[in-house]
Amino acid sequence: MMSSDFWSGKKVFISGHTGFKGSWLSLWLHSLGSQITGYALAPSTEPNLFSVLGIEKSIIDHRDDVRDLSSLKSVIKSSEPEIIIHMAAQSLVRESYKDPVGTYATNVIGTVNLLEAARSCGSVRVILVVTSDKCYENREIDYEYRETDPLGGHDAYSSSKGCAELVTSAFRRSFFENGKVVAIASARAGNVIGGGDWAANRIIPDAIRAFSDAQILLVRNPGAVRPWQHVLEPLSGYMTLCEKMWNQPSKFSEEWNFGPENESVCTVEEVTNRVSEIWGDQAAWRKSNGDHLHEATLLKLDITKAKKLLDWEPKWSLSKGLNETISWYKEFYDTKQDMRNYSLNQINEYQMYDFTENIVA
Ligand SMILES: NC(=O)c1ccc[n+]([C@@H]2O[C@H](COP(=O)([O-])OP(=O)(O)OC[C@H]3O[C@@H](n4cnc5c(N)ncnc54)[C@H](O)[C@@H]3O)[C@@H](O)[C@H]2O)c1
Repeated sequence: MMSSDFWSGKKVFISGHTGFKGSWLSLWLHSLGSQITGYALAPSTEPNLFSVLGIEKSIIDHRDDVRDLSSLKSVIKSSEPEIIIHMAAQSLVRESYKDPVGTYATNVIGTVNLLEAARSCGSVRVILVVTSDKCYENREIDYEYRETDPLGGHDAYSSSKGCAELVTSAFRRSFFENGKVVAIASARAGNVIGGGDWAANRIIPDAIRAFSDAQILLVRNPGAVRPWQHVLEPLSGYMTLCEKMWNQPSKFSEEWNFGPENESVCTVEEVTNRVSEIWGDQAAWRKSNGDHLHEATLLKLDITKAKKLLDWEPKWSLSKGLNETISWYKEFYDTKQDMRNYSLNQINEYQMYDFTENIVA
């Protein structure tokens, strides 16, 4: 259960607040009473979760580029945040093949700029840099990557996230006294699902676009294995970690994996079958014949460290996460009801969920 005792009144700076995770996080933190300043580009899809949830009503909304150091410095200085959660990124593997320079500029130099702006701002006590499970050198073996494993990446997106990890580590040691005064950590999460993602070339948004249009879904890599998790899972991990860092900065200023339990690690094909089944209405898919840029085929995360030291663990099974995800989209397309309230109810249900008994408490 996230504590409004902790989050109420906290000044939080979120980069990437107009994106999928950023919109959910802004909604959640606002519901707990945080004062949020967001910094990001305009939403890149139509529809987009940021507008659907009416996030602009709840936060101070800055539209600018993380590649612009002077703008970041000025917004961070004037908003005087206590907690910074850095999520702004070019977040798509396939886009990184089209634009490797832009991907590195945003994901690596953007992280350098954010940390440089943060270190000259006296109000900051906690910084969390969100990277990815793809930051590890993927050996394509049946293995759960641990926080101590070598960083790497075949494609520019994955490698840019490995670079962002290195940048965070260097800033921690060079400028933040290893977290003694300002806590600084990085978080590596798995493949996120949830209502309101409309990004290109991600399996759930691709499925929703195809099924809601009565089209056959084309799937690039049905055999790829991924650690799937509902978006509220890593967000609860990020929030738990920020609380711990606030109270014990040097103890938690490290790298953290936030993945699902093993039962939620499965192939794209299994997820696609399940989504088709839940959607109904003769939803169908087939393997695509198009170009096949390299994407990792086997990816698992070891989450022992977060479980033991943060007392965090995943709550929703893959099946529950998929049901919640598809219900969200059905609600959006079928009823056009107030999705802000619907999403707040999902957050509430997530918080109250008793995963030990698999029932809502
Ligand atoms: N979605 C996933 O499955 C997943 C998995 C692991 C890690 N992540 C990471 O989590 C974070 C959020 O992911 P998401 O799914 O919400 O991504 P998203 O693409 O939906 O949102 C990205 C956000 O970054 C902002 N942004 C992009 N380029 C920018 C720039 N140059 N300057 C300022 N803002 C910029 C966008 O405006 C948007 O607000 C990213 O760092 C991503 O790499 C995502």
